[in-house]
Amino acid sequence: MTSAELQPLAPEISGAAIMARLDRLAAITETPGGLTRRSFTAEHRAANDLVAGWMAEAGMAVREDAIGNVVGRTEGTELAAPALLLGSHLDSVVDAGRYDGMLGVVTAIACVQSLAARGRRLPVAVEVIGFCDEEGARFQSTYLGSRAVAGGFDAVLLERRDAGGTSLAEAMAAFGLDPARIGEAARRPEELAGYLELHIEQGPVLEDEGLPVGVVSAIAGQSRLAVTLRGEAGHAGTVPMGLRRDALAGAAACLLALEAACRAHPPAVGTVGRLHASPDAPNVIPGEVVFTLDLRAPEDALRATVLAEVRDAFERLARERGLALEIETVHEAGSVACAGWLRDHVAAAVARCGWPVRILPSGAGHDAAAMAGVTDVGMVFLRCERGISHNPAEAITEADAAAGARVLLEAIETFPETRG
Ligand code: HGY
Ligand code: MN
Ligand code: MN
Repeated sequence: MTSAELQPLAPEISGAAIMARLDRLAAITETPGGLTRRSFTAEHRAANDLVAGWMAEAGMAVREDAIGNVVGRTEGTELAAPALLLGSHLDSVVDAGRYDGMLGVVTAIACVQSLAARGRRLPVAVEVIGFCDEEGARFQSTYLGSRAVAGGFDAVLLERRDAGGTSLAEAMAAFGLDPARIGEAARRPEELAGYLELHIEQGPVLEDEGLPVGVVSAIAGQSRLAVTLRGEAGHAGTVPMGLRRDALAGAAACLLALEAACRAHPPAVGTVGRLHASPDAPNVIPGEVVFTLDLRAPEDALRATVLAEVRDAFERLARERGLALEIETVHEAGSVACAGWLRDHVAAAVARCGWPVRILPSGAGHDAAAMAGVTDVGMVFLRCERGISHNPAEAITEADAAAGARVLLEAIETFPETRG
């Protein structure tokens, strides 16, 4: 019998209670009928308020930090002890699923509520953070909330503008925050005992192996670029093919070169998720194309190799087609290993909950990657249906939601007072 099975799962930590809260969060969206919740919007405000209420119900002291994260805290029995941080993100991609990020926040609150319901206080303080802007969907500013907590916020980002021309600084001010005080969100390493994040796997491995939970070994590094190709707009009916400087045809060749480079270097993956051609008219040869490029690999050296090959291919194709090429690095994050002692601690919690231990890397980025800049991090993965994510079809089962809660609660309740 494991200690987690011995623990009566308080009703608020049941799979049904967790799923119900995730459904309530999913109803807070910019796009009725779908789920889009970007940073520093009315929906960000509504989600923070809803989550703040749940944190208060769990007995936590609640605040919003200087970057717009919502933070709940329960004191430990040893007031001078560092805090165990739990959490994930409350923002979403465009047209998202309802579990990416939100699952980790809702489940962490349920775990704290379960401890409170049983009058269980740990030596360490426990905090739950609902991070803002992990996805960077509005300003391409990935890990904004967790980077600020880790002390790594880059003020250059404040000038980034969204599609409507609003800068990050303006959006934060309209949200009620003072961009000049973002530094106040930063935590000191000595006040933290570690960071634990529960997140859906967003891949097919756990489902394929019939496992509800997994233990994350490392988080893949990622490069995000903005690529601009400039040719010459022209009449679709009069310019012979050999005389064109067609920016969109050039972009198409670049996309195929990206695909070939990644296929040649597995497990590197490359994605062009957004592309805009101008003047965007059916009878005009596109004069300019801007597209995003997202490149990931578990090892930084592999990502660097593929990135160099991709850059060379783009430069060659631009030259051959008479196009001007600009490449801007929008975001760069190295791969991050979970701390060995925390990985093993999570693995032991999985085993005590009665499941086989499956350790696996994360191809997706997570706030844990940013939090590793200030404390040791560990992650629990939860199975999701067909590994689908960043898609409204993202799905988990109620039973798996309960499994994730059991494992997270076990890892919290047995958290070593000092780092391993
Ligand atoms: O893109 C990612 O890996 C994560 O969803 N931010
Ligand atoms: Mn995501
Ligand atoms: Mn996520």
